[in-house]
Amino acid sequence: MLPLGTQRVNEKGHLEIGGCDTVELAEKFGTPLYVLDERAVRERCREYRGALETRYPRKVKVYYAGKAFLTLAMCRLAAQEGLGLDVTSAGELHTALQADFPPEDIALHGNFKSEEEMRLGIESRVGRIVVDSRIELEQLAALAAEYRRTVPVLLRLNPGIKAGGHEFIETGHIDSKFGLSISTGQALQTVQRALELPHLDLRGVHCHIGSQILATEPFGRTAEVVMEFLAEIRRETEAVLTELNLGGGLGIRYTPADDPPSVEEYAEVIVTRLLRAAERHNFPLPTLMVEPGRSIVGEAGITLYTIGVIKEVPGVRTYVAVDGGMSDNPRPALYKARYEVFLANRAAEEPTQVVTVSGKHCETDTLFEEVVLAPPQVGDLLAVQSTGAYHYSMASNYNRFCRPAVVLVREGQAEVIVERETWEDLLAHDALPTWLRD
Ligand SMILES: Cc1ncc(COP(=O)(O)O)c(C=O)c1O
Repeated sequence: MLPLGTQRVNEKGHLEIGGCDTVELAEKFGTPLYVLDERAVRERCREYRGALETRYPRKVKVYYAGKAFLTLAMCRLAAQEGLGLDVTSAGELHTALQADFPPEDIALHGNFKSEEEMRLGIESRVGRIVVDSRIELEQLAALAAEYRRTVPVLLRLNPGIKAGGHEFIETGHIDSKFGLSISTGQALQTVQRALELPHLDLRGVHCHIGSQILATEPFGRTAEVVMEFLAEIRRETEAVLTELNLGGGLGIRYTPADDPPSVEEYAEVIVTRLLRAAERHNFPLPTLMVEPGRSIVGEAGITLYTIGVIKEVPGVRTYVAVDGGMSDNPRPALYKARYEVFLANRAAEEPTQVVTVSGKHCETDTLFEEVVLAPPQVGDLLAVQSTGAYHYSMASNYNRFCRPAVVLVREGQAEVIVERETWEDLLAHDALPTWLRD
């Protein structure tokens, strides 16, 4: 699958990314190391904007879904590329505000927003709060009244569409904790209630059907269903809502077997189906919003590990242990995720040996089962493709491992955007009760 983004194999036979030799990156910053290719991120942002803005004859707003990977630097990149930002917790919102992300371009999500999160959203004047339940609607209306503000909101729908790379990341089918179901009538009832609440300005609707979706049809169908619902709202309430957010979900290439639609194909399908549905219902075209996360940063990131132990279990398999594991990549354990891996320091060599790569955690944390590598040796550098999304953001301190650093690379420059955690960081929040201090 090589090369993704700016990757290439240099004259030393080393993987290069963003013009930086990965062997030098590993020496300078240590391993495990997350590396993010700035040009690949920016190109994806531009691709989304270009594909939608050239096709859709009304306003388009692309929000980057920060849950995929959010740091101060990533906020700056998204803002520079003219993207909005989807945040899903007070912590993500705080990060965005600290990066001076324009609050009016932020959408606040979450199926259970705490009072603190709603207050922070109102106080910082985020552009949209995406209401996920009837309870939240009432709570938010009461808080908005307290602040004497009118809060612009979208209502998250459950469109009843099943799609996504794993059941844990399917979110748009009827049996989901997210959103309000169109088919049960709860969505319409909540719209009716929202329209009665003077401190809420219901601008439109939102849905997100799942993640790592490798076909365009579910997106096209969702566009139709949601447009149909806007027409139903108009019929039942006379309100003409002007915004439609179709969420994220476009899949990426983790292995050569993955064949996701391009951003152009995705844009073509959703815009065509929206235009057709709007015409059928004679409904004025709303502002179109989308919220890609994985497909903005996923393929732009790699992880580098050092191989430390190679153990052959005769007649069974060869285990290769790396200096990370489920704490920096929980996706194999969560979703049985598969990856393209290769030796970054011998990237030109033919992969001939089947091995199973495990981490160094205190359980069977298989990372990459039965992958083919050039015959590995202790000290080799293992590169893992497509780890830009939902890796650093899902990392943990299991077994008191320090979370890896994240390095941003571009045109031969490499700078840390997240420092590697230290033992001091691990202890920073520990406290001893008085009776254990002696
Ligand atoms: C509401 C919402 N929007 C956008 C996204 C981003 O999805 P993806 O990273 O698959 O594009 C998610 C992912 O869970 C989500 O829940």
